[in-house]
Amino acid sequence: MAIRFCLYYHSKENGEYLQKIINSSRQGMLVETQGLDRLPPQINSGTDVVFLEYQEDDAKLDRWIEKTAADPKSPAIFLFLHEITTNSLWKALRLGVKECFAFPIRPEEFQEALDRLPRPDVNLELTETTRVVSFLGSKGGVGNTFLTTNVAYILGQEQKGQVLIVDLDLRYGQVVYFFDARPKYTIIDVIENFERIDSSYLQSLFHSYDKHLSILPAPARLEEAEAVTPEHLGKILHYLKNLRVFNWILVDCCHQMDEVTLRALELSDDILLVTNPSIPALSNAKKLLELLQMLDLGGVRPEVLLNSWQKRGDLGESEVVGFLGREISSKITFDSTQVVRSINEGRPLWEMAPRHPLCQELRAIATKLCGDDAARGNGHGLGWIKRLVRKG
Ligand SMILES: Nc1ncnc2c1ncn2[C@@H]1O[C@H](COP(=O)(O)OP(=O)(O)OP(=O)(O)O)[C@@H](O)[C@H]1O
Ligand SMILES: [Mg+2]
Repeated sequence: MAIRFCLYYHSKENGEYLQKIINSSRQGMLVETQGLDRLPPQINSGTDVVFLEYQEDDAKLDRWIEKTAADPKSPAIFLFLHEITTNSLWKALRLGVKECFAFPIRPEEFQEALDRLPRPDVNLELTETTRVVSFLGSKGGVGNTFLTTNVAYILGQEQKGQVLIVDLDLRYGQVVYFFDARPKYTIIDVIENFERIDSSYLQSLFHSYDKHLSILPAPARLEEAEAVTPEHLGKILHYLKNLRVFNWILVDCCHQMDEVTLRALELSDDILLVTNPSIPALSNAKKLLELLQMLDLGGVRPEVLLNSWQKRGDLGESEVVGFLGREISSKITFDSTQVVRSINEGRPLWEMAPRHPLCQELRAIATKLCGDDAARGNGHGLGWIKRLVRKG
């Protein structure tokens, strides 16, 4: 979740410096920046932190800080001091200040201060709907995690909405590696604490990659996978849908068609079946398409993503379509150098090489999801009816 800052500076130079610090943090988002002389009597309610360039011997400023800090509805107060001394820290503490900094501010130190903040009141930014999109691999290694993570990242960056990735590869979950993330908590912590969970506590268990993207990691240990049941997953997804904090929940279902995966698919608004153009992957994909058709999951028709596509590969597109008996929804080109680099560096391709042609293909998937969203209106299953109408 974004942490919204209002910044009030004394010197323009320090103002620019603090602005840079806020913007370079993962969640910090500057919503207002002004000179200290324009400090309003009350801070607007959408702010999470007021960052002040503190001036010694300014009794009016001290009174303002004390009054603001005493109001439990007020945002947290951060001070930028010219020098940190025992006296200045005592004074700040007495005034009710949350954090103090002096030049130079280390990014890690700032990030830790943000992590210590209580989570913002998410009820202020409810989304209209939360769309659950499941990525299902037809076979191990077809690029399911690569597509889930990269489409999620682009959705967040381009649409400026809130995106959550749920890693349902319960034994070997790898989403965290695709973001070089070291999360404190996993889905096991959510399950263990579910009964006493509230929205801000729940979100504190998610790993926040940046302002738009959060991750619910798979269990850290192999044996913990057994502890996740379809009922747990159902409860978590229902809770998150009702919460309306996330615009999209993207689920990496890996390629295991088990009970937990089935529950995710049942609760999905979109199912994206990922395959590559090899006979083993395509024959699995065909079986899965048949199974999904039989299950008729709320009328959601799976779309096929053809990854690792090569124009001059062994199979032509018409052969793939003929074999599957289904149109390909999106093709993603094979490029081992860039894809492997992005995965090994733990950075989404869009962040690492936004001009790379593959980014446009990934972006097209994200855009399609949003396009369908607009066409679909609010309801689960409406898209199905619309498609039928279009066909008819
Ligand atoms: N478009 C692509 N071009 C080239 N290589 C790719 C592409 N997509 C994926 N790969 C390669 O495939 C490998 C597997 O990708 P990924 O881990 O996303 O697959 P997966 O289906 O999630 O696998 P698993 O079954 O292990 O979870 C990557 O390490 C990468 O080398
Ligand atoms: Mg995977």
